[in-house]
Amino acid sequence: MAFPNHVRLVEVGPRDGLQNEPEPIDTQTKLALIDRLGAAGLTHIEAASFVSPKWVPQMADHREVMQGLTRRNGVTYSALTPNLKGLEAALECGVDEVAVFGAASEAFSQKNINCSVSESLERFAPVLERAREANVRVRGYVSCVLGCPYEGEIAPAKVAEVSKALYEMGCYEVSLGDTIGTGTPLKAKRMIEAVARDIPMTQLAAHFHDTYGQALANLYAVMEEGIAVVDSSVAGLGGCPYAKGASGNVASEDVVYLLDGLGIESGIDLNALAATGTWITQTIGRPNRSKVGVALAAK
Ligand code: HMG
Ligand code: MG
Repeated sequence: MAFPNHVRLVEVGPRDGLQNEPEPIDTQTKLALIDRLGAAGLTHIEAASFVSPKWVPQMADHREVMQGLTRRNGVTYSALTPNLKGLEAALECGVDEVAVFGAASEAFSQKNINCSVSESLERFAPVLERAREANVRVRGYVSCVLGCPYEGEIAPAKVAEVSKALYEMGCYEVSLGDTIGTGTPLKAKRMIEAVARDIPMTQLAAHFHDTYGQALANLYAVMEEGIAVVDSSVAGLGGCPYAKGASGNVASEDVVYLLDGLGIESGIDLNALAATGTWITQTIGRPNRSKVGVALAAK
């Protein structure tokens, strides 16, 4: 299989990138971040998460963020909605698209959303039904596709089974999450091959965290298989509150640099994106985990 000509980035920095920050980040900073990402050419920005504020305090201002957005033409602003309560609130705020999030690991599902994998699928069914009525597309996440912090190895067949359930339920795209970044390229390829037996490659996305420094190599491997949607986070911000030690997503700047080098279009202005990474990390007092971002800032 050859590389795709175009790769769409789904920028998850404002959600995945910030959800685990211990200190409150004010809503205006989040809004400024989202705006700068849109200005840099990102067409899909995961802006907020309509989850319980007791579980994830950093996302408690989801309404203010979603309602405070300065919308840009051609940009989709999405949010996580784990249940009907979250979906209704997101719809009230005019969300463009939502996402449900499940897992290929029973233990992670319990820790993250307080139910088993099969219970989560039962919970998602009415979310999809209601979203369909409201004409809002639903993305499905599967966590722990290349390893689980509690169970260790995860069989590709289990990832394929949960992905298929989400797809058949109506998720237009299934994003495959290496939540703890333990995957390596061959493993990532085999996992994608297993999932793509049931779901067209065009409906799959790669969501790789970079804990072990493998995310770019893994992306290269799965793009070679035909994956053309990549989730990433500016400056490599982030981590999951229910996966101890997991670090941020692959940095958006690093992905764009890789794509540019491979001659794959993304429509993103690397310099504007890198400047955004420098600005947000300075503003929230975090290290910039994008190697490309750091290199460009030093020029
Ligand atoms: P629960 O306790 O089982 O749910 O939590 P519940 O229905 O019994 O409700 C308990 C309380 O939460 C009630 O409030 C509800 O009103 C409230 P109380 O009566 O105690 O005051 N509640 C809500 N509040 C706001 N918005 C809602 C909502 N639902 C219930 N939507 C629940 C179940 C799913 C809500 C909880 O477990 C939760 O919020 N989990 C969030 C987990 C999370 O956000 N994790 C991080 C995102 S996933 C991720 O990062 C992975 C990903 O990036 C891919 C990858 O990397 O692998 C996507
Ligand atoms: Mg994630």
